[in-house]
Amino acid sequence: MADKRIGILTSGGDCAGLNAALRAVVHRAIRNYGWKVFGIRDGSLGLMKRPLDYIELDLSLVTGDMLRLGGTILGTINKGDPFAYPMPDGTKKDRSQDFVDGYRDLGIEALVVIGGDGSMRILNNLCRKGGIPMVGIPKTIDNDVAHTDYAIGFATALNVAGEAIDRLAPTAASHHRVMILEVMGRDVGHIAINAGIAGGADVVLIPEIPYSLEGIARKIDEVRREGRNHALLVVAEGCKTETGEAVTTVQTGGENRYGGIGQYLGARLSEMVDAETRVTVLGHVQRGGMPSMRDRIIASAFGIHAVDLIAQGKLGRMVAWQHGQVTDVPISDVAGLTRAIDPYGTLAQTARGLGIYIGEMGS
Ligand code: F6P
Repeated sequence: MADKRIGILTSGGDCAGLNAALRAVVHRAIRNYGWKVFGIRDGSLGLMKRPLDYIELDLSLVTGDMLRLGGTILGTINKGDPFAYPMPDGTKKDRSQDFVDGYRDLGIEALVVIGGDGSMRILNNLCRKGGIPMVGIPKTIDNDVAHTDYAIGFATALNVAGEAIDRLAPTAASHHRVMILEVMGRDVGHIAINAGIAGGADVVLIPEIPYSLEGIARKIDEVRREGRNHALLVVAEGCKTETGEAVTTVQTGGENRYGGIGQYLGARLSEMVDAETRVTVLGHVQRGGMPSMRDRIIASAFGIHAVDLIAQGKLGRMVAWQHGQVTDVPISDVAGLTRAIDPYGTLAQTARGLGIYIGEMGS
């Protein structure tokens, strides 16, 4: 149908590669199918606002420069669930009908949602409520969306974390220090373990594998016995203290975010090992900046496939990357699941094989 209109939105935390996916969707929809594409601003908010907040995306807007541009030109939100929308008086209100009405008013026939696991779940519920045909594209630096080997943004974040280790290593060596790098990842350790292997870390701590301070101290001693007077430790922000407490900081609006496990470990380890420790918290630099080539390619493949799914009437599906190819899975199989590091999988075994301390699984 040549005059079909589709909508697209980005939801959840931003990351590198979102604009590359938007660009691919617009190219495929217009060039191949002759459809119109409407970009909805600020995630679900654009359809809840009156007047609606959107922009028609045409080919003049999606030049090659979009590939190089971090963030999302549509804007995004990672709060404001329409089913429990935070009102100014502190109460929560179900505003899901506003979203459904907005969708109908815009006159679109399908919605492409670029989001992580949380957004995918909420948007899938909204679309089910409104009978809205939806196709999902996974994105998140955490790389924890189920049934896809890669989500948009992870490759760039990993490059940033790897480069940070490369930059910390000379200072560790020059000052005979234990350098600790805290990376993002929420409840999973994809960034940490990949960066740790690629950057030559001595210790990598991830939420999926318990660790002990003694185990870390033993590894640092071992490094010294082998003749090296410095060590590199990578810790995922979602790691708990030895006694099992999450380390968080309170943000504006009273929201908790992970942050501080690096400082916790630095303080404990400086008491246990006879070495200076320094802590670097990488934070949001992992989300921004110029998208890596891999993210641009994955995002482009995802965008093309998402539009093809709509054209084929294969709705309620999320595009995915499996075995080096783009494919798709039912969104209902993804919602509510988290893809964690397998403590006995390739990455964990590779790290162990390299002598990296990654914690102890217990007996
Ligand atoms: O999910 C992406 C992510 O960057 C996590 O790694 C991190 O814990 C969180 O978002 C930070 O959220 P915010 O941008 O709200 O501080």
